Amino acid sequence: MVFADPGTIGFEVNGTQWQLRPWALADAPVLAQAWADSEVARWNPVPGDASVAYAERWISGWHQRLRSGLALDLVIESRSALAPRSMAGEVSMVGEIGIVGEVGLVGEVGISGLEIDRGRAAIGYWLLPAGRSRGLAAGAVTALTNWVFARHGPDPIGYLDAVCHVDNVAAHRVAERAGFVSVHNDVVGEATDRVTLRRFA
Ligand SMILES: CC(C)(COP(=O)(O)OP(=O)(O)OC[C@H]1O[C@@H](n2cnc3c(N)ncnc32)[C@H](O)[C@@H]1OP(=O)(O)O)[C@@H](O)C(=O)NCCC(=O)NCCS
Repeated sequence: MVFADPGTIGFEVNGTQWQLRPWALADAPVLAQAWADSEVARWNPVPGDASVAYAERWISGWHQRLRSGLALDLVIESRSALAPRSMAGEVSMVGEIGIVGEVGLVGEVGISGLEIDRGRAAIGYWLLPAGRSRGLAAGAVTALTNWVFARHGPDPIGYLDAVCHVDNVAAHRVAERAGFVSVHNDVVGEATDRVTLRRFA
């Protein structure tokens, strides 16, 4: 096994508890919804087939991608057991003090592009609208990065790259917030419309 199974990774953002966990078949409708989201599709590689059936097939391959070292993709979700998946995409206001309600599964953060000989891998991320604008992506990227550096198995990862489109300023900021630093394109050999941010273990 090239990637170890992380199980569940908990983290906190502004007093709210979140967790990263493996994809489960029941998540397929939300994954299909994410693939169809215009911002996710604009900035992230998504399959041409954004159906729930294809999302189920993709999720079925989760363990195989983990074992082969192809990818370690984790769901970002709120920790409340009361959050039904059908509520993803909603943020409810409860009571006069305006407590933000639980929103369930709102995004993904994942590792791919593993190069064992260089000890390098890439990190990617997206959020559904319900998860955006609350600092959540930076929290999720930080949590997974820390786990990768601290817990990775026999083939240690020495550094992670976040490769973003130059126009996706919010994605750059997320990486910077998570401790990644911009690397010149000449060094990484990346296309000119891309920005690479790197964090070492
Ligand atoms: C990009 C994305 C991950 C950002 O996640 P988020 O948790 O909502 O990020 P936030 O709203 O907390 O913003 C992060 C930072 O970017 C800044 N930002 C947000 N939108 C911005 C914009 N349009 N222009 C400039 N800065 C922006 C915020 O002010 C914040 O800055 P700070 O760290 O100095 O406070 C999320 O919007 C998303 O999933 N978008 C669609 C898919 C995507 O772009 N994935 C990344 C591919 S590399």
